[in-house]
Amino acid sequence: MTAHALEGIGGAARHAVTDAPLLAAIAARWSPRAFDPDRPLTASDLRPLLEAARWAASSNNLQPWRLAWALRGEAAFGRILGCLSEGNRTWAHRAGALLIGCTVLARPNGAPNRHAAHDLGQSLAQLAIQATADGIALHMMGGFDAAAARAALAVPDGIEPYTAVALGWPGDPALLDDALRARETAPRTRLSLDEVAPHGGWGG
Ligand SMILES: Cc1cc2nc3c(=O)[nH]c(=O)nc-3n(C[C@H](O)[C@H](O)[C@H](O)COP(=O)(O)O)c2cc1C
Repeated sequence: MTAHALEGIGGAARHAVTDAPLLAAIAARWSPRAFDPDRPLTASDLRPLLEAARWAASSNNLQPWRLAWALRGEAAFGRILGCLSEGNRTWAHRAGALLIGCTVLARPNGAPNRHAAHDLGQSLAQLAIQATADGIALHMMGGFDAAAARAALAVPDGIEPYTAVALGWPGDPALLDDALRARETAPRTRLSLDEVAPHGGWGG
């Protein structure tokens, strides 16, 4: 599939401008804030996304990610929403689902798993790519209160909430206030490939 075969949310204008050809769902993924408040997301819609996360690689195949989720209308959705920063709540309340990405901190022998956050991120990246391919909008958030999320979701000891995620069918950006709507259409930027991927390291 080419980048043009997968239109993506917001169309080609939101596609990454890439220095090399990419898989369509990678080029089309971005982080919208406009979700359709009238089109619910179902557990069936989410299943392929969670399955994509499940099949991520991880250190020693420990699969430390734990993805606690709830659909809009469920009590746990309201509890997760209440943990988000005020700024994130202003748009995330229209999401069809909210998820808190957590990770198991220790290896089975009790030693810290220093790859735990890496592996959670990798599982969420796979989830995001699958979401994009399925036409589902997804926005990750660090702006939430991890201690509140622990209480809201009864997160067990040894598991740490790291990242919140809003998911839903794409909505009309007109639902957003002026400032957020401007961010919805702002150019997408990245550091240069040379800066993020120094060939041979930094030693010259
Ligand atoms: C770990 C993480 C935390 C983020 N936290 C927030 C957040 O709290 N609020 C928000 O609006 N966007 C948040 N974002 C979205 C980023 O701002 C966004 O991914 C970045 O600007 C790149 O844009 P793109 O995803 O559209 O390519 C977060 C993204 C990640 C991966």
